[in-house]
Amino acid sequence: MNRLRLGINIDHVATIRNARGGNHPDTMRAAELVKKIGADSITVHLREDRRHIRDLDVITLAGSIDLPINLEMAATQEMHDIALKLAPHAICLVPEKREERTTEGGLDAKSGANYLRPYVARLQENGSRVSLFIEPNLAQVQAAHDIGARAIELHTGKYCDAITDGNIDLANEVLENIKAAAKLGSDLGLEVHAGHGITYESVIEIAKIPHIIELNIGHFLIGEAIFVGLEAAIEKMRNIMDEVREIAQT
Ligand code: PXP
Repeated sequence: MNRLRLGINIDHVATIRNARGGNHPDTMRAAELVKKIGADSITVHLREDRRHIRDLDVITLAGSIDLPINLEMAATQEMHDIALKLAPHAICLVPEKREERTTEGGLDAKSGANYLRPYVARLQENGSRVSLFIEPNLAQVQAAHDIGARAIELHTGKYCDAITDGNIDLANEVLENIKAAAKLGSDLGLEVHAGHGITYESVIEIAKIPHIIELNIGHFLIGEAIFVGLEAAIEKMRNIMDEVREIAQT
């Protein structure tokens, strides 16, 4: 089976910790648990306003956890400097607006190409695999490839919201866009990842797409962990991913 990698985003462990200050719940403890459960990587988003993950979280994780780190960040000079120092296994460039609650849309790789090309090249020369978080749109996939990024992460937020809202027509339309974007990315030689808003329900069709090789999931799993524990929540997600992938490949 073409196994789908699972990256766990632990930003919201930090959100809960920051609500009270101190160090509980500890992001390192969460990372160790995520590793024990068999996740393939840890994702953290170091936002400009440091609302959840902070510099020390990233430094500690990069220095002591034996699991690939995927650092999500805006394409700013400040983040470039941090990423060059830390040289994480992977970097995912995301658009960032101060007032948004979470990453709302994809990066505009097309109009940002001239700025992004050298920005990405320097990070990749430094040993990090760079992905661009983009909308499932063919022009954006082509632009990400032309910029020289090794990977793309397709924004699944619209699809997942449509599933949650029961808007099947919209869900089907966005799913077709995700499939087409994933195929083009793969044909162009890019690693194709996907993420944002994924739940036990919305993962089903996403995990079946053969060109997608990695999912990054956070908020839903940390929320589920309140009810069933992090281990059980991640295991259930892993099982659904494996089951539907296997069915789709037979
Ligand atoms: N991928 C990217 C690029 C993101 O920005 C986020 C949210 O930080 C995720 C994946 C995970 O999304 P969620 O927390 O909704 O699962």
